[in-house]
Amino acid sequence: MNIKNAWVSVRNEAARLKPIHLRELFATDADRFNKLSFSCDDLTIDISREKLDTQALGTLLDLARTCDVEAKRDALFSGQEWNNTENRAVLHMALRGGAEAPEADDVAATRNRFLAYAERVRNGGKFDDVINIGIGGSDLGPAMATRALAPDHDGPRLHFVSNVDGAHLTDTLKHLDAARTLVIVASKTFTTLETMTNALSAREWLGIHTPTNMAAVSTNITGCAKFGIPEERVFGFWDWVGGRYSIWSAIGLPLAIAIGAERFAAFLDGAAAMDRHFRETPLGRNLPVLLALTGIWRRNAMELPTAAMIPYDQRLERFAAYVQQLDMESNGKQTDRNGKPVNLATAPVIWGEPGTNAQHSFFQLIHQGTDIVPVDFIVAAEPREKMGDHHAILLANCLAQSQALAFGKTETEVCAGMSADGRPQGEIDRLAPHRTFPGDRPSTTILYRKLDPYSLGRLVALFEHKVFVQGIIWNINSFDQWGVELGKQLASSLIPMLKGKDRTDAMDASTAGLIDRIQKLRDSR
Ligand code: F6P
Repeated sequence: MNIKNAWVSVRNEAARLKPIHLRELFATDADRFNKLSFSCDDLTIDISREKLDTQALGTLLDLARTCDVEAKRDALFSGQEWNNTENRAVLHMALRGGAEAPEADDVAATRNRFLAYAERVRNGGKFDDVINIGIGGSDLGPAMATRALAPDHDGPRLHFVSNVDGAHLTDTLKHLDAARTLVIVASKTFTTLETMTNALSAREWLGIHTPTNMAAVSTNITGCAKFGIPEERVFGFWDWVGGRYSIWSAIGLPLAIAIGAERFAAFLDGAAAMDRHFRETPLGRNLPVLLALTGIWRRNAMELPTAAMIPYDQRLERFAAYVQQLDMESNGKQTDRNGKPVNLATAPVIWGEPGTNAQHSFFQLIHQGTDIVPVDFIVAAEPREKMGDHHAILLANCLAQSQALAFGKTETEVCAGMSADGRPQGEIDRLAPHRTFPGDRPSTTILYRKLDPYSLGRLVALFEHKVFVQGIIWNINSFDQWGVELGKQLASSLIPMLKGKDRTDAMDASTAGLIDRIQKLRDSR
């Protein structure tokens, strides 16, 4: 089968299934959950509430085979230069033992060095607070994971400063003592404007403590030295580790300081277990592949432009932000690997907040809005700590939402309910349309025993591999990010003017008008 025909089969399946309500799909197949839920140890992915069935899934698996997912996965793990616009291998899996590292000794030595340093910071008694200054992949991973693993956090307090808005650093420094604060500058390139601006201000704040209270994580070792950070506190990584895939490297230093080397190792082990699963499991039971194909189905067959990520776990409150970078910076592309326009829709817009909070803000639209928004529910069977009925209530809400989305509530059911409550007929007629839920709205539930370092590592690796598989199917390079460059260049040229220097002529009318307005507002004080 060629790729074109594989897509035709997928689209034919979508045309067959679109008119069939999820209620009917469940009613006509008592075994639907068993057929469409898949597990690896305690991790289960339930796609039975997606608008597909085993026949449709079969065509998606054929598509994956036709796109050579298995061979390309093996090529990735073997260290081929998969990132073809930057001529780099993609081997972040090697940092957690999931693939062979190109510089294995150096990788092991660096890991030992940064974990030993993390232990010294934890146990040395010198630091009460640690600030990580970084942005994008140098911030979101450690910030998300440190928050997620709060129960394991027994090191100094952690703070994350990413935004160049001075408010971020100001608010963070407000209650800290420079003598007892460690500042980590995390930047793969050590040139990112936001990070370097924050690092300079933090260095000024540290003053005489700078020589002992600053560390850096970067591939730009010379840049770190020039900045004045002593070699023994600079931790490197390699160009084969993409920024948004770097949590497994020394970029994870703040997390290691928070939870300690042993738990950090469990975090790596969880990810390595997912690497093994991804490499060894047949496509039809392979969780990252199935998650990827579900996403392809939503995006390219059902033509849904966004997806909501709703962890029913307060400690995963930064998970949607993390997956936004992972997914949208990797697969938000319009050009294929060969430089040709992609003729398919690529990454959806990912957005979300934890449940149950989300239920009380935007779930109205997800249930009754005019757009269909597929949802990923993420939830643990057990809480980290017991507190009355909280977790049972949380779980009940999570399951109730996917149930309501799939099955809805018909007008007949609404009328019967209102009538049983003794409501007058006039009120029933007036309110029934508003109280009706269409249902037939797709969701996937990702369930595991407990959110701990191991299961978090596994969850993150699951999404990494999902993104990779989708990149193969869309034939795009998931590992570059040229789309962030233009804004950076333009900002650099605008900075002098916003600092009061003369305006250059070559400027569009809107930018010029806004700069004039900014200047007038500043002058009129
Ligand atoms: O601007 C995008 C980006 O390059 C991300 O890919 C990256 O994670 C982030 O900036 C930070 O880059 P660095 O770690 O080099 O400071």
